[in-house]
Amino acid sequence: MATRIPEEVIDQVRSSVNIADVIGQYVQLKKSGKNLFGVCPFHDEKTGSFSVNEEKQIFHCFSCGRGGNVFKFFMELENISFPEAVIKVAEDAHIDLPNEYQTKEYVSENSQNSLSGQLINLHEQAANLYHHILKNTQAGQQALEYLYHRGMNDATIDQFGIGFAPEQRLLYPFFDEKKVDYQLLRQTGLFAEDQSGQLHDRFFGRVMFPIKNPNGKVIAFSGRLLSTENTDMPKYLNSPETEIFNKRRTLFNFDVARKSVRQSRRIILFEGFMDVIAATRAGVTCGVASMGTSLTEEQINMMERVTSEIDVCYDGDDAGQNATNRALSIISEQSQKLKLNVVSMPAGIDPDEYIQEYGEDKLAEWLDNAKQTPVAFQMNYLKRNLNVDNEVDQISYLHSILKVIANVPDSLEQDVYLNQLVTQFNLDKQTLQGQLQEIRRQNQSQNTVEVRRDNVRREAQPVIQHDVEILDQTKRAERMLLRLMLHDHDVWYYVKGKENFYFAHESFQTLYLLAQSYFSTHDVYAANEFFDYIDDEKLQRLMIDLEEIEANDEVSMAAVDDYINVIVQKTPLKQLISEKKAQLKEATKFGNKDLEESLTIEVINLMRQQQEQLQSGGK
Ligand code: CTP
Ligand code: MN
Repeated sequence: MATRIPEEVIDQVRSSVNIADVIGQYVQLKKSGKNLFGVCPFHDEKTGSFSVNEEKQIFHCFSCGRGGNVFKFFMELENISFPEAVIKVAEDAHIDLPNEYQTKEYVSENSQNSLSGQLINLHEQAANLYHHILKNTQAGQQALEYLYHRGMNDATIDQFGIGFAPEQRLLYPFFDEKKVDYQLLRQTGLFAEDQSGQLHDRFFGRVMFPIKNPNGKVIAFSGRLLSTENTDMPKYLNSPETEIFNKRRTLFNFDVARKSVRQSRRIILFEGFMDVIAATRAGVTCGVASMGTSLTEEQINMMERVTSEIDVCYDGDDAGQNATNRALSIISEQSQKLKLNVVSMPAGIDPDEYIQEYGEDKLAEWLDNAKQTPVAFQMNYLKRNLNVDNEVDQISYLHSILKVIANVPDSLEQDVYLNQLVTQFNLDKQTLQGQLQEIRRQNQSQNTVEVRRDNVRREAQPVIQHDVEILDQTKRAERMLLRLMLHDHDVWYYVKGKENFYFAHESFQTLYLLAQSYFSTHDVYAANEFFDYIDDEKLQRLMIDLEEIEANDEVSMAAVDDYINVIVQKTPLKQLISEKKAQLKEATKFGNKDLEESLTIEVINLMRQQQEQLQSGGK
């Protein structure tokens, strides 16, 4: 595991807490049989498929499949890295970790060995330099006054690490002096390269806003001109995409917002990061903004993992309203579970301008009180290009808004909107209700067609399910065998003693190999400890799933042999393939083209056979 926290420390932290006590602070757990049950915090459910096994110190949700030990619980819950989860659990348990793990050093991505770590490190240094220039030098004076003029104080400037890149370019000389590798500098995105390959600062004469990843590490910058008058240059200039900066996966302030969500219970989505900063000044720290692009699937995923409510608060101009409409439909298409609201700003202004005009307290109030449902937003939005005093426009408006209202599941909410229409246009409520019913009837008949299609599909399904069952035979044997091996030393050594034994499926084989490394330092198997040997999410789930198998204490070696026999029937091909591959390598090395070609074909054919076997389950 890529971390600097030594394994003994991790073991100590893990073993000093009881997973049931820890999770119990976040999920209401009730005892039933051996396990504790509750409602899964990771997906929308009412049934309570989430279980905690105190004896094994693991959790598992039968419905969404997530599972793991106490560290994994926090990684999932707070979208944090493994080392962060270890520190979090240690804090919870009041274990004093040595200071060195408490510093930023612990995060593996900050390790000087990886490219990302190095790039992040350079960004952190650049951010410090820009910040220093803004706060402490003559060159930063004008920019500092600009920020004060916009209503920011030192606390805000420090909090966001805001800086200044002066006209005179000095980042390149700064790094050059420190003998930072040229190739590395090229990959930061902080420089432009001229024809001779010389690097020049990309940012100059701009107020610098660091952009951070979810762990709070600087991965990019956005630079704003002090003045947009008399210039063709863009107001904001962002870093280009790099190894560490992917715009689709970045939300400004997400590192802070995801932590404050527990109190705020919502994330507020703003159009610009200046609005996020304005909200923070007003004490609202759960704001995020995408980096000048429209909302992406990845960003919605990020938010969905930490909150169940998003308030969209875009600018009060036409562009902002269109963007709101787009964001609402993108989010609701992608996720049914997120509750959405719209916070509409007064016409023509953004939250940052609002705070200038009315002050910090008023913005906080506005963000709390100006919430609208998406339908209420549509009631206004659908009017935007219409003149509803004119009958033609009015009728067209009523048709489109009734379609929206017909989709509202809550009848009380529907009634609220209907009443508004009645008053606004002086209409007969019964007529509107009749119209609604008509729309619903049409929707329903459409649905019935879809349901019928669904049924046809379902009738075709048994064949597919049959396939799955056959496939399960091998997998079942693999599950049982690996389960027995992990929990029973005799079985472990018995199987390990079999030369040329491989699991047929790579996932089980990999778990087996990981278990070998686990047992090289552990005498006794503990599910919650072994879990930390597994990095891959799919394998983690597979491993947790193994723990659900009810197994007898009495294991007969005959049963073990049966499992082995089922499995090895699938494996000879695998060995053959690896032998042929080794030969192929030799052939390539010695430049024997003919042999290379024929071996390649053989390997491909074998792999195809293997694929077919695995898919059909074989005989
Ligand atoms: N943006 C950008 N490039 C531009 C203009 C805007 O990338 N030339 C992005 C920025 O991320 C900005 C967002 O779009 O945060 C919203 O733009 P805008 O509303 O113009 O910015 P404001 O937040 O109003 O910024 P300011 O108050 O400084 O003018
Ligand atoms: Mn603005």
